[in-house]
Amino acid sequence: MISENELWLLSFYRVSEISGALFFGRLARSMRPSSIQADMTKHFSDEAMHAWYWTDCIERLGAKPLKLDVAYQDQYLVAAGMPVNIMEILAITQVFERRVINQYKRHSRTVGTHQDVCQTIARIMQDERWHIQWIRNALQEMEPEYGKDHIETTMQRYMQADMEVYRKTMREHEERVRHLIHTHRGPDDV
Ligand SMILES: [Fe+2]
Ligand SMILES: [Fe+2]
Repeated sequence: MISENELWLLSFYRVSEISGALFFGRLARSMRPSSIQADMTKHFSDEAMHAWYWTDCIERLGAKPLKLDVAYQDQYLVAAGMPVNIMEILAITQVFERRVINQYKRHSRTVGTHQDVCQTIARIMQDERWHIQWIRNALQEMEPEYGKDHIETTMQRYMQADMEVYRKTMREHEERVRHLIHTHRGPDDV
């Protein structure tokens, strides 16, 4: 069995993965034929699977996913502003994916984390690494069109927004995520 706080956190992951799937799914639907169209379609189907993995994991732990109205992504667009072109969409996604990877890494390192949770995270991480990779490649290919510096500045702007949203989320849910905040940090954590 899992604690109430852990159930909340796993449910939060599930809802965030659903939000990601819906966001990328809508984008994939609106795209013209291209390699980005193909990768975005794979990306959205991965996120949908991740939502299923969490649903399944929570049920295997003897609980039912909570219905939550908050998703991490929702606050992103408020803090960062609506992306105005495909480069900005990919840049904000890249920043977000890094955040997800850090959060999952941190969680799986937390002492006492259930084996099923660690396995679910490990399974998801394989896809998340590819998400970072295809977006990095796509952004590189956009350099002639948008300019390397401009892409870099855009990334910086979104990283700033990411920090704000992360701090706010951690403050709001401090009690629930306390055990995650106080675990040791890796060099790539922020
Ligand atoms: Fe995911
Ligand atoms: Fe992802």
